[in-house]
This record gives sequence, structure tokens and C-alpha cells, in this order.
Amino acid sequence: MLRAMRILTGLQPSGKLHVGNYFGAMEPAVRLQNAGEAFYFIADYHAMTSSQNANSLRENVRELAIDFLACGLDPEKAVFFRQSAVPEVNELAWLLSTVCPMSLLEKCHSYKDKIANGISPNHALFAYPALMAADILLYDSNQVPVGKDQKQHLEVTRDLAVKFNDTYGGEILVMPEPIIREDTAVVIGLDGRKMSKSYGNTLPLFGEEKPLKKLVMKITTDSTPVEDPKPTENSTILALYKLFASEAEYAEMVAAHEQGGYGYGDLKKRLAEAYWNYFAPMRERRAEILADPGYVDRVLAQGAERAREEASKVLKRVRQAVGLS
Ligand code: ADP
Ligand code: TRP
Repeated sequence: MLRAMRILTGLQPSGKLHVGNYFGAMEPAVRLQNAGEAFYFIADYHAMTSSQNANSLRENVRELAIDFLACGLDPEKAVFFRQSAVPEVNELAWLLSTVCPMSLLEKCHSYKDKIANGISPNHALFAYPALMAADILLYDSNQVPVGKDQKQHLEVTRDLAVKFNDTYGGEILVMPEPIIREDTAVVIGLDGRKMSKSYGNTLPLFGEEKPLKKLVMKITTDSTPVEDPKPTENSTILALYKLFASEAEYAEMVAAHEQGGYGYGDLKKRLAEAYWNYFAPMRERRAEILADPGYVDRVLAQGAERAREEASKVLKRVRQAVGLS
């Protein structure tokens, strides 16, 4: 029987979401939930490879679930679940590991980068791409939208699918296609570098009005006097404003830069307003979600049940193929 295109992606629960995460990951995922059968999960096992703290894991998972739903993830359209709610993924990761050459993992940049950044080189961190492959292959995923940084992990996934199918003779695992978000512009942070929590230059998605608007005032600018025209190239204010404003508003903001007479303080105030207003509908939805304390648990339980149903079909096929049943 022909089934809808299955689109799967995972997001790590690793702290407060920022505007870069929204435009780079959540908004595209929300859009894609109309393009096929979406499976979106919170990669909690993955988060444990770089941080081992039970309370913050619990908190981060819950917060990511709330925020993703607030951003428009629709549990009627997408299957939304915690990775660890389907522990069968570990079994598939193990089976994939048995056909995974060490060299395939040894060449992964992400592992080397993390070590270079001071994360301790534990076995799970090294084996992370095999678990990620299992995440994808366990659900017969067809398309996997990810950021550029995950491209190599998708290549590993495809290599493992081929290896596994070759080893056990047949089309057991479905070959996934990566959808690399090359064209999603990198969102710039307050200091002009890529917005990233590791640079401490982020605009959070949610928070109190005053402190959030105050952050905008911290954007690094040059010392052009109030009356002079302001440069429009490489302008952090303009780059961010573009995300939140209509075309006409953006054109007005460019004009305000070009004609001079507006200080950076004024321009930042305009940006702060646009940023705050842009997320108003998500904030409202978030407040509704928070007002129903059981809602998130219900959504995740329902998602887990549906995900497990799919996983068990694939695992049955896999166990049969390898001789475990
Ligand atoms: P961070 O750099 O803050 O640690 P993550 O690496 O956890 O962010 O990113 C989670 C998701 O958000 C990824 O899909 C990534 O591509 C996307 N993302 C993060 N920062 C940006 C950014 N500045 N611009 C566009 N997308 C981003
Ligand atoms: N490794 C991904 C990240 O850090 C998260 C992730 C885990 C994932 N499993 C996945 C993404 C499967 C896509 C498919 O962003």
C-alpha cells in the first residue's frame, strides 16, 4: 500500500530556544508538516551525550515540547514524541553498529568539534551518528530536513542502510533522502556573528518584554553620528529586522538608515518592537498550553504510541532479517 511521504527530524533539548533556532529549524518543520506525514521528536538520548544532568534534561525536554507546540507544531498533523519513549531505537542502533566500520565514525566532524570544544569524549558521543541513523531508519523515513551541520550524519545513515541491506540481503531498510537547508539564511546574533547559544549572542524566542527588548539595545553598532546616514551593508539591525517586518516596513527601515537623522537607539527600538510583535501569536499559544498542565504530556504520549506502532513494524522486519527471530 502506498503511504504518504514520511518526513522525520529530531531536535536536541539543549536549553532556551532562540530566534536562530526558530527560523533555522522550527519554522521550516512547521511548514513541512503539511507536505507529508511528519514525525518530529525530541532527541533526549542525544542530548545526554554532551550533558548528564537529570533535572536539566527533564526541564529542557518539557520546555522544547512547549515551545515547539507554541510555534505551530500541530499534533493532529505531526507525530510528536520523545526519542526515549521508543527505546527500541537502541536495539536498531546496536544492530547498525554491528555493520558500522569504525572509520565511518572516526571521520565525523561533529565528534571532533565537540571534543575540541571541551566535551568529554565518551562512547555515546562517538556512537552518536549510529543512534541518529537508527532514529531515521526505525521509521522508514523518506525525507530528513536538517541544518548543514548534520549533513555528514545523513551520509553515515545512508551508508549504514546500504551496508545493512547488503549484509542481510534485501531491501530491509528504506533509504532516506536528506533535505539540507542550505538556503535558510544564517540568523545573525547581537554581536554580528552567527546567532548561537555558545556565543551568548542570542535573542530568545520567549521571555518577558522588558529584558527581551533590552537585549536588542545591546546590538553592536558603529559610531556613526545621529544625523548621518547609517551603513546598510552588514547591518545586524537590518538583517534581524528583515525577519520580522513586512517588505514595506523593511523598505522604510532601509530608508531611515540611508537618510540619516535617526540614531541607532531609535532604529533598535523599531527592531525591538517588531521582534516582540512577531512572536505575539506564539506567546499567546504558549500561554494557552501552559494553562493546561496535562496537555504536553497527552500530546507526547499519543505521539509515542503512534511512533512505537511504526517502529515495531520496522524492527520486526529487521529482527527477522538478522536472525533474532
Ligand atoms: P546553537 O548554535 O545555538 O547551539 P543548535 O546547534 O542547537 O543551536 O541548533 C539547533 C537547530 O537550529 C539546528 O537545526 C540549526 O541549524 C538551527 N540554528 C541554530 N542557530 C541558527 C542560526 N543562527 N541561523 C539559522 N539556523 C540556526
Ligand atoms: N543530531 C541532530 C542535531 O543535533 C538531532 C537529531 C537526532 C536528528 N536524531 C536525528 C535530526 C534524526 C534528524 C534526524 O540537530
